[in-house]
Amino acid sequence: MDRAEEKLIFAVNGERFELSRVDPSTTLLEFLRCHTRYRGAKLGCGEGGCGACVVLLSKYDPLLEKVEDFTVNSCLTLLCSLQGCSITTTEGLGNSKDGFHPIHQRFAGFHASQCGFCTPGMCMSLFSALVNSEKTPGPDPPPGFSKLTVSEAEKSIVGNLCRCTGYRPIADVCKSFAADVDLEDLGLNNFWRKGENKEKILSRLPFYSHSNEICTFPEFLKREIKSKSLSDFNGYYWYSPASIEELQSLLETEEDGNRVKLVVGNTGVGYYKEQEQYKRYIDLRHIPELSLIRRDRTGIEIGAAVTISKAIQALKEESEGGFHPNGEMIKKIADHMEKVASKPLRNTASLGGNLIMTQRNHFPSDIATVLLAVGSSIIIQTGPERTELTLEEFLERPPCDFKTIITSVRIPSWESVRRFSSETKTKLHFESYRAAPRPLGFALPYLNAAFLAEVSSSKTSVVVESIRLAFGAYGNKYAIRARKVEKLLVGQSLSLNLLFEAIKLLKATVVPEEGTSYPAYRTSLAVGFLFDFLYPMLEAGSTILRGGLNGYMNALPTKLLEFNREYSPVGEPTQKSGAEIQASGEAIYVDDIPSPKDCLHGAFIYSNRPLAQIKDIQFKSPPELYGVVRVISIDDIPEGGENLGSQTMFGTEHLFADDLTQYAGEPLAFVVADTQKHADMAANSAVVDYDTEDLGTPILSVEEAVKRSSFYEVPPYLRPKQIGNFSEGMAEADHKILSAEIKLGSQYHFYMETQTALAVPEEDNCMVVYSSVQCPQITQIVVARCLGVPCHNVRVITRRVGGGFGGKAMKAMPVATACALAAHKLQRPVRIYLNRKTDMIMAGGRHPMKINFSVGFKSSGKITALHLDILINAGISADISPILPLNILGALKKYNWGSLSFDIKICKTNHSSKTAMRAPGDVQGSFIAEAIIEHVASTLSLEVNTVRSKNLHTFESLKLFYDSSAGEALEYTLPSILDKLSASSKFHQRDAEIRQYNSCSKWRKRGISMVPILYEVSLRPTPGKVSVLNDGSIVVEVGGIELGQGLWTKVKQMTAFALSPVKCDTSGDLLERVRVIQADTLSLVQGGMTAGSTTSEASCEVVRICCNELVERLTPLKERLQEKMGPISWNMLILQANLQAVNLSASAYYVPEVTPMRYLNYGAAVSEVEVDLLTGATSILQTDIIYDCGQSLNPAVDMGQLLGSHHYF
Ligand SMILES: Cc1cc2nc3c(=O)[nH]c(=O)nc-3n(C[C@H](O)[C@H](O)[C@H](O)COP(=O)(O)OP(=O)(O)OC[C@H]3O[C@@H](n4cnc5c(N)ncnc54)[C@H](O)[C@@H]3O)c2cc1C
Ligand code: FES
Ligand code: FES
Repeated sequence: MDRAEEKLIFAVNGERFELSRVDPSTTLLEFLRCHTRYRGAKLGCGEGGCGACVVLLSKYDPLLEKVEDFTVNSCLTLLCSLQGCSITTTEGLGNSKDGFHPIHQRFAGFHASQCGFCTPGMCMSLFSALVNSEKTPGPDPPPGFSKLTVSEAEKSIVGNLCRCTGYRPIADVCKSFAADVDLEDLGLNNFWRKGENKEKILSRLPFYSHSNEICTFPEFLKREIKSKSLSDFNGYYWYSPASIEELQSLLETEEDGNRVKLVVGNTGVGYYKEQEQYKRYIDLRHIPELSLIRRDRTGIEIGAAVTISKAIQALKEESEGGFHPNGEMIKKIADHMEKVASKPLRNTASLGGNLIMTQRNHFPSDIATVLLAVGSSIIIQTGPERTELTLEEFLERPPCDFKTIITSVRIPSWESVRRFSSETKTKLHFESYRAAPRPLGFALPYLNAAFLAEVSSSKTSVVVESIRLAFGAYGNKYAIRARKVEKLLVGQSLSLNLLFEAIKLLKATVVPEEGTSYPAYRTSLAVGFLFDFLYPMLEAGSTILRGGLNGYMNALPTKLLEFNREYSPVGEPTQKSGAEIQASGEAIYVDDIPSPKDCLHGAFIYSNRPLAQIKDIQFKSPPELYGVVRVISIDDIPEGGENLGSQTMFGTEHLFADDLTQYAGEPLAFVVADTQKHADMAANSAVVDYDTEDLGTPILSVEEAVKRSSFYEVPPYLRPKQIGNFSEGMAEADHKILSAEIKLGSQYHFYMETQTALAVPEEDNCMVVYSSVQCPQITQIVVARCLGVPCHNVRVITRRVGGGFGGKAMKAMPVATACALAAHKLQRPVRIYLNRKTDMIMAGGRHPMKINFSVGFKSSGKITALHLDILINAGISADISPILPLNILGALKKYNWGSLSFDIKICKTNHSSKTAMRAPGDVQGSFIAEAIIEHVASTLSLEVNTVRSKNLHTFESLKLFYDSSAGEALEYTLPSILDKLSASSKFHQRDAEIRQYNSCSKWRKRGISMVPILYEVSLRPTPGKVSVLNDGSIVVEVGGIELGQGLWTKVKQMTAFALSPVKCDTSGDLLERVRVIQADTLSLVQGGMTAGSTTSEASCEVVRICCNELVERLTPLKERLQEKMGPISWNMLILQANLQAVNLSASAYYVPEVTPMRYLNYGAAVSEVEVDLLTGATSILQTDIIYDCGQSLNPAVDMGQLLGSHHYF
């Protein structure tokens, strides 16, 4: 039924939008990014899980004349739900033209934005915290600060992920706004130098005015709301019923539950993707009854459409002096709810939505578990019939149909203390628990639990009068009560025996369903939680130390950083180039490039079988319904072209499977449709007919690969060399460990910006491809080969990449190539932005491996021989896998193993090809080395550090293991790094303190470890070009790509330094004149790849060579001019150079000489870690790192890289 249209009216950054006929499934993010000029909010996951899309949503209450401001995940918020709302994105705070907001400036100045893809979302979370803090009562903060406290400021970004920066600089930005901050505690920044006085520091910090000059809700919208010209929006298939009756009558007319969707926050889509388009959306938020919160002596009733944030607020208010006699319990419920997802998500997610998802889809809810423990009930309505059920009854019912709605949830009152007689009184105990991969935000629990017990105590006993034990999210359908355990405990006097009986029963109760990950861990968590709840009652004043970081914490050292000014501005911690525009949302990533006219969007259909014939591909519904224009496949590769998706020096990978698919995740076809959403929906709805007959079994393990001799060759020049004689080394040993095994798993790629490309056909059979790739040059070759055209027909442009970590080296190529092929075929621009799921499935990830080792060692701990058998699972194609042996051994040889032999096999299996991921092979090599050292130490009952130092290289043994890479004796700094680190981290003192701590803490244990690291650097040839333009501005091109690692910043610094011999006194800062521009494969050739942590170094060197050339050309002219005219300006010099036909563009190709090409890099870290024995939760309490980077090109950038890598794994 189509209906009379109403207008959807809202504002974005103060700009009025009025829409009709909005597709009701349109999200705010989709609208912002596709239909406005505001591209600041980014798409990271589309699931409410990363915060890249966070914006501020403001609502106006005309009666109270109040504006409510809160963050939301715009990737889940439906546009139609925004009638009369105002949205502020990071562009609304400021920009390069009108001036940046201090949030933008401080993100840049504290070096808190690397690739920058997360930064706009971070800015908005912080901005929301600032806006809301200013509304709180209390005295005004000091000038330049807000009313936030340090702890509130830090928490403001809990809903935002960053993959690059390591959070400390980001937290510093947030803290810099807090009224109670000690600015001197903040880290390295661009505003002041450590040691400067407070006034100076304050004067340098970009000023923040707490009176908030940014209007989050425009006056025109207030006027429209006040004049009642804006009613609840009822639009194109979007309904906003104002009463339950109206809702019921809407539902009555509908027969098919797949056609209608009730929505509140729409966050459920974060987990349960919409497979088909709904015909109607019904917004429940305008039904007053569903939004009520009622509190009285019997309890609290919360309407089903109340958001989790509002419910938390109400519970907190109640706990601070409401009707409820047990404020502490209510507060704990609120505290637990604060661990649900993230703040932006809780701001829109409703209680009812959460509970219905649990009941209908078996969603692992926290809320259901906590509410179950406190005896809550649910009020539901089907047609005119309203029923109140206990939560247990509700959960156990068959799944609610779409006509059944939850109207509210009731939490009953519980007395905290009851007196039964003059001798006995009972006390109520309540606790809730949650163990998840990450303690705050985004991670669903492995298990959650909540317990409520009424206990009477006398001098001699503690008796359980009643108890409710709720467990959920452990791989079962919904939260349950452990009834048998409850029954066992009730009426009993608590004793250790009883506790053990209860635990036995509990183990048989909390049993995850088959296929659940970590089943034993989840059951043991249940035991740990119950133990934690009951044991303190049993032994009041026991020696259990729990809660918080009790014990000591080492204060963060305040270091005076010293910088080398000799090569200024090289070596200075200059601000990252482009950081402010990254924060303000003006920086353009591939998906921010506006779509050219007639642009189409693509999505991959990929295989979900490891080995099968593809018989057919069909769609569930006719593809035209999804706006599909064409399905591109292998048959569309033009004559003369090749079925090529990527290539390395070791081999190639197909773009599409031919008739046979050989791994799950293999692209089968490329759907091209009018929008990205349609392309994704169509690809999702593809049904592939597979046939596995007569194909045999796929190779899915390294063991199977060995059985079938399925290996990749390692070229001779990449084969690491064996050292010494293993048998002789073993003969010298006093002890041996034989055939011990280590297994290392894979790791998904999770750069914040998923793979993306835009291909635009050009005249004369040419193609321009904008790609987020680490190696444009190879992409150019692959695209050209696929299309069967010469490379000069293909221009690949990469400006910046929203995080790569190796995953955008090879794996970006098929994405760019598929777009180019589709664009070539259709002669229309085609773009793609991979959804997170497809990205994770296709990107392959880190190499898993199985290691078997035998090691011989002396009683002193000196290792005399090591043999390794390593099986690497490389997947279906060689990719970069043949370099892994060299990398693994490169890192492993940090110790002197005496003699070292190995057999490394790179197994070809029917998995997606594993690829480069942050230090591929080095990470595993270092892990293997440490595992062996620890194994030896534990066999000998020696301190691990004793074994480590016994096996550290002398310079002689280093040379034996690394040949010429070892360099000079003076360069072997690892032993001194370890000594320095041991002293600066107070390793021995803390080790002793930890032993003391562990001896008196039963359930939390701490450990400290000091680990050295060695990285064998290998420089590659790289091109560069420096040109001085007519006005004296300088433009630089380098082969490397800006991935957030600060390449452009360092290159700018080097340009300014290397041109300084011809700098003129009056010409100001040369640094300001330099711009590094995007990589363009037709402008600068032989760009190679950005990888291996050497691109900045090599790019700076080539730029230095180019600048030297320019200096040589300009110096005679400068001298002549100065002789004639006295001091001259830079502009004059360049003007004259132009007039006198001096070539102002220099290009070079830097080819490293043999000696500096390979060298060793050293570092070491001390980490102190705490493990909670009952929950398995681990926390890193402190890490100290010393890294010998020689002379840093930019300490701020390098520090950022270090912090980021520390948090990466
Ligand atoms: C990234 C992420 C992390 C999360 N983490 C957690 C977590 O740690 N713990 C946890 O417990 N939950 C978690 N959740 C779940 C979250 O709490 C729910 O998505 C949310 O509460 C659903 O509410 P909503 O208003 O957005 O529902 P919607 O998405 O609007 O609706 C969800 C479903 O419920 C139906 N529905 C909504 N209201 C009613 C009603 N009153 N009566 C009948 N049907 C109704 C809708 O038709 C729809 O089918 C997470 C979700 C995401 C996306
Ligand atoms: S939370 Fe919206 S894109 Fe990740
Ligand atoms: S800077 Fe945060 S994800 Fe790159």
